[in-house]
Amino acid sequence: MSETVAFPQDRTCPYHPPAAYAPLRTSRPLSRVTLFDGRSVWIVTGHAEARALLADGRLSADRRNAGFPAITPRFKALQDRRTALLGVDDPVHNVQRRMLIPSFTLKRTAALRPRIQETVDGLIDDMVARGPGAELVSAFALPVPSVVICSLLGVPYEDHEFFEGQSRRLLRGPDVTDVEDARARIDAYLAELIERKRTDRGEGLLDELVERHLETGRTDVDELVSLAAILLIAGHETTANMISLATFTLLRHPEQLAELRDDPSLISAAVEELMRFLSIADGMLRVATEDIEIGGVTVRADDGVVFSTSVINRDEAVFAGPDALDWHRPARHHVAFGFGIHQCLGQNLARAEMEIALGTLFARLPGLRLAAEPDLIPFKPGDTIQGMVELPVTW
Ligand code: HEM
Repeated sequence: MSETVAFPQDRTCPYHPPAAYAPLRTSRPLSRVTLFDGRSVWIVTGHAEARALLADGRLSADRRNAGFPAITPRFKALQDRRTALLGVDDPVHNVQRRMLIPSFTLKRTAALRPRIQETVDGLIDDMVARGPGAELVSAFALPVPSVVICSLLGVPYEDHEFFEGQSRRLLRGPDVTDVEDARARIDAYLAELIERKRTDRGEGLLDELVERHLETGRTDVDELVSLAAILLIAGHETTANMISLATFTLLRHPEQLAELRDDPSLISAAVEELMRFLSIADGMLRVATEDIEIGGVTVRADDGVVFSTSVINRDEAVFAGPDALDWHRPARHHVAFGFGIHQCLGQNLARAEMEIALGTLFARLPGLRLAAEPDLIPFKPGDTIQGMVELPVTW
C-alpha cells in the first residue's frame, strides 16, 4: 500500500487533480487517505471498482451511521441533520427520488431549453451593454443556473442574493457556527415559502409537491424543506462552478476551443469531456455496512469510503491519455455525476445549461479572453465544489 495522502487537498491548477494526489493514481484501485480529524479511510480511485461500489447496497449514504466519514469540520457539524436524497438509503431514498423523477426527465429538460436560451441571451446582452469586460461568475455563470432552478422550483428569483449567499456560507463558510446558521436560514426560508404555497399555489415543482405530496399526507413539511434545499443548492452551485471553470479551461486550451468554435456540433461531446476532465464534485462519501471484498482488499463494516472523482475519471485503463482534453474520446461513462442510485438527478438539466451557456457565450463573444494573469485568478479550495471564485474576462 502507498504512503497515506491527506484528503481533500487544494488543486494546484484549477483544472487538474491536486498534484499531491499523484500517489493515489499509482495505488489504484483503492488505497487509504487521512481526513482532517486524523481518521484513516478508504479512497476509491479505480473506475471499475468505483462503479461497482457506488452501485453496491452494502455501502450507505446515511451520514448518521457510525463510521460515516466527515471530510471537513463543516460537514461534521451538519452530519446529524436530515438530508433528503443524498443522505438517505433505500427504501426511503427510492420514495423521495420517485417524487422528483418526472420533473427531471430528458423530455421535461428539453422543454426548458428555450427558457435557458432566453436567460443566457439576456445575460450576454447585459454584459455586452455594460462591457467590454465583466466578472463572469456574477454576471453569467451563477445567474444562468440560478434563474433556471428558480423557475423550475417556483422559488422567486428576487430572493437569489439571499439563497446564493447562504449556500456559499453553507459550502464554504469560515466556521461551523456560520454553516449551522446558513442551514437554519435556508430551512426557515423554504418552510415559509412552502407554507405560502399551501394557500397561494404557483406553477413550480415545489407547488406540485405541495399539492400531490404534502396536502395528501404523503410527506411532511420537514421532508419537503430538505428536498427543496438540496434541489435549490445543488441546482445552482454545481452548474455555476462548471460554467466558470469550463470557461477558464477553454480559454487555457486554445486549440480545443478553436476546434469547438469551428464545429459547434461538438458541444455535447465537449460538455461531457469537460465534466470528466474537471470532476468538480471531488469526494463522494459512503460508509460500509458489511464487509466487502473488492480490488484485492477487504472494506470492513463501518469503514469510511471516499470516492475521488478527479482521480477515478483519469483512470488510464478506461480513458487513454486521461490528462488531455479531447472532444473525440468517449467520455460519457465518467463518474462526475456519480453512479448508482444517487447518480445526479439534475444531470439532464445541467447538461442542457452547460451546452447552451458555453455554446452561446463563445459564439456571441468571439474575442472572449481572460482579463487577468491566469495564475492570479482565484479558484475554490479543495474541500468544496471546485470552480472559479472570480473570473475577470474581456472581449
Ligand atoms: C454540472 C453540475 C452538477 C454536478 C457536477 C453534479 C454532481 C452530482 C454528483 C456527483 C452527485 C452524486 C453524489 C453522491 O453520490 O454522493 C449528485 C447528486 C445530486 N444532484 Fe447533481 N450535479 C450537478 C447539477 C445538478 C443540478 C442542476 C441539480 C438540480 C436539481 C442537481 C441535483 C442533484 C440531486 C438532487 C442529487 C442527489 C440525488 C440522489 O441522491 O438521488 N445536480 N450531483
